[in-house]
Amino acid sequence: MRKYIVGNWKMNGVASDIGAIAGIADAAALYPLVDSAICVPATLVHRAASELPGFSIGGQDCHMQPSGAHTGCISAGMLADAGAKLVIVGHSERRAAQFEQDGDIRAKAEAAKASRLDVIVCVGETLEERDAGQAIEVVLRQLEGSLPDSSAADWLSVAYEPVWAIGTGRIPEENDVAEMHGAIREQLVARFGDAGQGMRILYGGSMNGDNAAMLLAIPNVDGGLIGGASLSVPKFEPILAAAAKSIEE
Ligand code: PGA
Repeated sequence: MRKYIVGNWKMNGVASDIGAIAGIADAAALYPLVDSAICVPATLVHRAASELPGFSIGGQDCHMQPSGAHTGCISAGMLADAGAKLVIVGHSERRAAQFEQDGDIRAKAEAAKASRLDVIVCVGETLEERDAGQAIEVVLRQLEGSLPDSSAADWLSVAYEPVWAIGTGRIPEENDVAEMHGAIREQLVARFGDAGQGMRILYGGSMNGDNAAMLLAIPNVDGGLIGGASLSVPKFEPILAAAAKSIEE
């Protein structure tokens, strides 16, 4: 399976940062066996996609409706119209701050598919849930509720992002990642059959150039969703290199 390395710029980036995105696109071109993309703030999608036509630019959220009275919201069709190729839905920062529920996320994923966007659905437990021994149960429940029924490997990926690992510099033990990704794979296969076998499961949460090789070598870790380390070429390129190397091994 090709590895998928996706940057999530979160609420970072203005027009003067297009050069940094272009630098990342140039670096990504050096690793043709790795699929990569950067999800930028909605305000930059059109500009980045127009200036970098050979590189995948994505959004970080979309509304579940195609249009209507939803002040401040952006539909999947609008992202696609601006040139986005993909969108992240259900990031834990949105689940927490915008109170998004599994059913909302599922509807957003369906809306994105209808607009022909690739979709990354995020799931992940809090530290309290992990400490209580509920991590797998919580993540599988989120997955069950957040994934649309019509799933297929070519447009839908899952990102497992433990909330406590995001932006903290902490990552789970290797065997905990293996156990979680294995459990996610099992559920995908039980629900979608062969398509579930081919769906990519990304790991997210403090992935960087130092730990990417280890994380990407874990069974069922098919890529990464990267926040902080996606903001510059020197931080992002080593992750692309680790992904390329993991395919050779
Ligand atoms: P991080 O963020 O790499 O900065 O931990 C990951 C994410 O939130 O997607």
